[in-house]
Amino acid sequence: MCGIVVYGRRGGSGAPALVLEGLKKLEYRGYDSWGIAALDRKGRISVMRRVGKIGGANAAAVSRRLGSGSVAMGHTRWATHGGISERNAHPHLDCTGRIAVVHNGIIENYQELKSGLLARKHRFSSETDTEILAHYIEEGMSRGQSFQQATRSIAKRLSGRSAFVALDSKSGQVIAVRLGAPLIVGIGKGGELFVSSDINGFLEHTNKVMYIDDNQMALLSFGKRAARLPAFFNVSTGARVRKRIVAIDWKRSDEGKSGYDHFLIKEIMEQKHTIAQAINQDDATVRRAANRIRNAFGVFIVGAGTAGRACVAGEYLFSNIAKKHVNSAVASEFGHYKHYLTKRTLMIAVSQSGETVDLLDAIDVAKSKGSRILSLINVFGSTMMRVSDDFFMLNAGAEKAVASTKATTAQLSLLTLLAYATAGRLKEGKRLLLNTAEQVNDMLNPRYEERIRRLAKRLRSQRDIFVIGRGVNYPMAEEAAIKLQETSYIHAHGFAGGELKHGPLALIGKGSPCIALVANDGSKREMISNAMEVKARGGYIIGVAPENNEVFDYWLRVPDAGEASPIVNIIPVQILAYHLAVMRGINPDYPRNLAKSVTVK
Ligand code: F6R
Repeated sequence: MCGIVVYGRRGGSGAPALVLEGLKKLEYRGYDSWGIAALDRKGRISVMRRVGKIGGANAAAVSRRLGSGSVAMGHTRWATHGGISERNAHPHLDCTGRIAVVHNGIIENYQELKSGLLARKHRFSSETDTEILAHYIEEGMSRGQSFQQATRSIAKRLSGRSAFVALDSKSGQVIAVRLGAPLIVGIGKGGELFVSSDINGFLEHTNKVMYIDDNQMALLSFGKRAARLPAFFNVSTGARVRKRIVAIDWKRSDEGKSGYDHFLIKEIMEQKHTIAQAINQDDATVRRAANRIRNAFGVFIVGAGTAGRACVAGEYLFSNIAKKHVNSAVASEFGHYKHYLTKRTLMIAVSQSGETVDLLDAIDVAKSKGSRILSLINVFGSTMMRVSDDFFMLNAGAEKAVASTKATTAQLSLLTLLAYATAGRLKEGKRLLLNTAEQVNDMLNPRYEERIRRLAKRLRSQRDIFVIGRGVNYPMAEEAAIKLQETSYIHAHGFAGGELKHGPLALIGKGSPCIALVANDGSKREMISNAMEVKARGGYIIGVAPENNEVFDYWLRVPDAGEASPIVNIIPVQILAYHLAVMRGINPDYPRNLAKSVTVK
């Protein structure tokens, strides 16, 4: 959440435009407002802040306003403290205008820190927690501390996960501090330096990076005593830390919309390829991971949100395919399991971004007990990749729409493959998934999409949509509800078919839409009975199933994919969610109040 980009080169030019370009790549991290601070040739800071998405911002207008200096830093915001307004958009300045700060995450003890500053008559221009950083640095420097000392002093006092970057206009120095939220330094050509919340902020210019680890800070100098490389320090001790330059071998996938109106539909359609890409893994590595799963004393599959639903599906997949009991857990609740973790426990952490803070916290808990971490992630170089013992890439390519689609089916595919490998049937699992990938390719045709669009037309004015599933399709019913909520803003509720009569049935009335996710497995009969129960109370049944059934008022055919049914069953709902959003005048790529990378608790 929140994207940070910094660019600088001693004697260089065009910094504000380069920062703008980088921020546009990070828009998915937050898009309620944005801002850029730039150093002009006279060593003064100019700031531009705007409410709304940065996507539409014009480079010429930014250069006109901020000039074409050699150092700039910017931020795209997902509001935490303080409403969405120009004054709360970052960067923030101290009382004198010498220091500018951008920040990602939350300063949990900011009220206590702010009250000290207010008592000492600092003037605040925003309601953010971020602004206190600029004032504390100002205060430290007014007491004779260097920029570096003053920045470290306040960094040491912060609680909560965050990352911030401060710019000192006098020295032309920039300090990037990482305290649990991601921040990475890029080393460009001819003395160019970048800092960003993720590598996408500068990958167009360089793939050479220096990682800032937690509780470390990087000092970048662009003034008179400019150094070619940043210097790194430990925040607690101030001791110098040695770093290597690492070349990231990660090709940018096509990040445009490729002719589609939105990223969401583009990414849904990319599932024609991404299922096969996800299982394109080295067999020996898969077998090694399967061995660890088999021999672990306690396996937990953990993720948040949609990834968390894939984890619950994983629990069923391991049970059905490998007869292996694994526990699924919601990342934000994982701490409660700590008493069951040992050195022999294996945590499988599932995440698109590899940066979700609740999952990083869960990993910390597992690591503190000596448990081993295997991650399934989509972003190369992400924090999770670096803190895990082993990892698999999902190979889905950049996922830009906030609502996860192709990463979800990649997670499901990889979990299915691991379940088969754990059962000693890797080849069979591969065959099934490759076949499923082909079936999905056939399914995603214009006629199919049109049929779903017609359904969306019928449902567009509904207040509620219910989704039911059983077995491995029960978590998919919950996932379907997440997709519908976040894109169409229609209230959707997903639950296990068997739970209908324990409450939800009271909400069903004439015409209530209910999507039934049906698989051709042992749960089919009972699912059809559950659909009947809804229909008997006036419900309108949308069957997502390999075969039609008299209970369905509207049938969305899916291939009979056996154990891979969650993959094929969720796709029509993704398409439905997309068209509902478009018909209701909502931008499906950027749901209100949400952000792609959830780096606050
Ligand atoms: C919803 C969605 C979120 C994410 C969740 C975890 O469509 O995308 O619920 O699944 O925020 O994110 P990652 O997978 O990046 O850890």
